[in-house]
Amino acid sequence: MTFARIAGTGSYLPERVLTNDELAATVDTTDDWIRERTGIRERRIAAPGETTCDLAERASRRALEAAGLEGADLDLIVVGTTTPDRVYPSTACRLQARLGAEGGPAFDVQAVCTGFIYALGVAEKFVRTGSAARALVVGADVHSRLLDWSDRGTCILFGDGAGAIVLESAPEPGVMTTHLHADGTGERLLYVEGSVEDGYDNPIQSAARTRMQGNEVFKRAVRALGGIVDQTLEANGLARGDIDWLVPHQANYRIIEATARRLRMPMERVVVTVDRHGNTSAGSVPLALDEAVRDGRIDRGDLLLLEAFGGGFTWGSALVRF
Ligand code: ACO
Repeated sequence: MTFARIAGTGSYLPERVLTNDELAATVDTTDDWIRERTGIRERRIAAPGETTCDLAERASRRALEAAGLEGADLDLIVVGTTTPDRVYPSTACRLQARLGAEGGPAFDVQAVCTGFIYALGVAEKFVRTGSAARALVVGADVHSRLLDWSDRGTCILFGDGAGAIVLESAPEPGVMTTHLHADGTGERLLYVEGSVEDGYDNPIQSAARTRMQGNEVFKRAVRALGGIVDQTLEANGLARGDIDWLVPHQANYRIIEATARRLRMPMERVVVTVDRHGNTSAGSVPLALDEAVRDGRIDRGDLLLLEAFGGGFTWGSALVRF
């Protein structure tokens, strides 16, 4: 039996820091409100001209280095992103060329904040079935370019960033199970609006604006994540106390707390980075994972539960023996 194990992790955040106080100078909000309702203190914003692929490349090079591999060693690249550089080629193809990894399949997966978990769910199946031996899985977004900076209900939440992992085939798990879900009926609660002047509502980034009914999305996220946590434990015959680390999507500290409560996990066993970069969409879970691996909290052999919820709606989880 073949499994997919994480051979290395990497991440990257743009240099520019945007604080709550800076936002409070442009929209009707306060640092206190943002911290209290979301846990966010600051976020990073990509430089003009800095693209999703630029962020993805930096995170990927770090993951490859951690795995002791080079681009040419890869035979699959899957990028979770909702902010591709171009309609085509895909961000994964652009990344493949930069890393010198030509030959194997490379494609994007679009599941908004669940993008990395979806990408992981797809890539680990390639590895488990023997279709790939070494896969690069990336979550990267420049969500700041989809924001209406006059809408205080959304512009305070998001930031830019990327994370990546290298998966390699191994005789033992690795990724134990992944669970992916979607419910397309919630579209009007969370979507990106574009210019409809030319009759269709499909911009890539220019003129795009995130629209969200935050409190409704909040409730759905808490419900969906609670359900998927139970599903993941049940599928693996595990009890709540068996997980070593929860590595959640970093959208809102209160949502993270609710999921941790469901798992009966103390917050010391939950990786939280939302305070320093807000919601980086597909970048969020691998950014948090990389931080906790590099600072030594997550160790080889630890049992991790990764989860995310996002536009679509989409949600998903992965149980991983690191
Ligand atoms: N500053 C001050 N007041 C604000 C702000 C702000 N930035 N934003 C909203 N408010 C006001 C509202 O106008 C409202 O005022 P009212 O009572 O006078 O009408 C009040 O605060 C309460 O608004 P709620 O929306 O009920 O506030 P809530 O506690 O739900 O927090 C938030 C809002 C932070 C957006 C929260 O609902 C949330 O995090 N939602 C989920 C976001 C998420 O996880 N999205 C999924 C992933 S994103 C993706 O996939 C792209």
